Amino acid sequence: MAAYTTETISPKYHDAIVDWQKKNFPELTFLQDSWTKYYASQTPFQLFAKIGKLPSDQINVGRMAGQARFEHAGDMVGNMFYSARDVIRAQASTELGSIQQHRMTLEEAPTDQMKMAVLRIMAEELRHGYQMFWVLAHDASWKKPGHPDIASETMDELLSMQLGNHVLDAFNIPFVNFLDNVIFATVIDLVGKYQLEMQRVFSYAPMARSMGPMLSEEGFHIGSGRGFLKELSVAATNDKGRFSIDDIQRVINAWVPRGVEMFGNERGGQTAVAFSFKDRNNGTAQAEYHGEVREVIDMVNIAIVQAKVKDLPAPDARSLVAEIQDTGETIKGVSPKDLLTVPDMKFFRSRGLEEIVFMPYDVQGNLITEGGKPVSGEKYRDYLKTALPDYYIKSKEFAKYEEALLGRERPAPGASYGW
Ligand SMILES: [Fe+2]
Ligand SMILES: [Fe+2]
Repeated sequence: MAAYTTETISPKYHDAIVDWQKKNFPELTFLQDSWTKYYASQTPFQLFAKIGKLPSDQINVGRMAGQARFEHAGDMVGNMFYSARDVIRAQASTELGSIQQHRMTLEEAPTDQMKMAVLRIMAEELRHGYQMFWVLAHDASWKKPGHPDIASETMDELLSMQLGNHVLDAFNIPFVNFLDNVIFATVIDLVGKYQLEMQRVFSYAPMARSMGPMLSEEGFHIGSGRGFLKELSVAATNDKGRFSIDDIQRVINAWVPRGVEMFGNERGGQTAVAFSFKDRNNGTAQAEYHGEVREVIDMVNIAIVQAKVKDLPAPDARSLVAEIQDTGETIKGVSPKDLLTVPDMKFFRSRGLEEIVFMPYDVQGNLITEGGKPVSGEKYRDYLKTALPDYYIKSKEFAKYEEALLGRERPAPGASYGW
């Protein structure tokens, strides 16, 4: 028995998504033509919604625990109705935005396998976008009597979104080289995994039923990211390939803070839990996420050490990594600079707790001070130039951050998953 059933959406929006794909992802045909060569054991890509099964029809979290889940959006009242729409809209925006980002540097993939993996990720994100459209389109009750048609308004808006006006910051950052594709799949898709897992408890049943099938596809995205990150890091260690460990480190430093911020303000998330849109508040999920990113980078460091010190078994490599990082010393020819690190959660933040955002924290999470006071915005900007990729420093996203850092303009709060 399949773990899910499939559905397509109304021809109007089905065709609109196909049109969107032709404009934003014309390489899909190439992927489909080459599918069996690379993914013979996998069912070929198809554009439909996958409707999974729920472990229970009941809400188990929040203030409605014990009640049946909502089958019709229109039965959700007040703020809950609009907040559910906001979550679906943000989710769909991430799916479509990431396709636009991956495509920018697709042709720079160092190997065919990497290029095909990114194409498959893009195709699956397209299906995820389609899935969110299904959530909105199959349920006529998103149109409440006497109110605008929330579903079509939202879908029309999503189809017109470009890099720069997606809901979450991480999906407005252009990719400049293939490290962006790889680090994004490693750390930003991982945020996606946390969101989807938390949203299994969603009180609006069609959203909850969408999570299982999406999660199994995310496994490939995260796995590809990790595998390629390891491959590129080992190549850098052996002085092969086009990226150095420092290049890789800077790209990690650029993306991890955006991943951390996708969870929303670390003290928030209670309303979403009360509505049973998810099962953990922002701070808890964010801390678990950051811990998992550290584990991923540990695995990469073990591979780096094994590339440098021949015939070192994994457990010994693991202790060596820990020893080098704890002491800051060069041991067996491996220096701290040969290894990768995960920036602290307080580094380079523009959203979240007031006491953290735009404060001059270094990658280790220490406040950079001068005469006992935090250094000026200008000085922090100079520090960031030493920690982030050059191309990122020149980006529009960084210019926006800089404006705010120098006290000119602060971004509007709330643009995250963590309502
Ligand atoms: Fe996705
Ligand atoms: Fe993904």
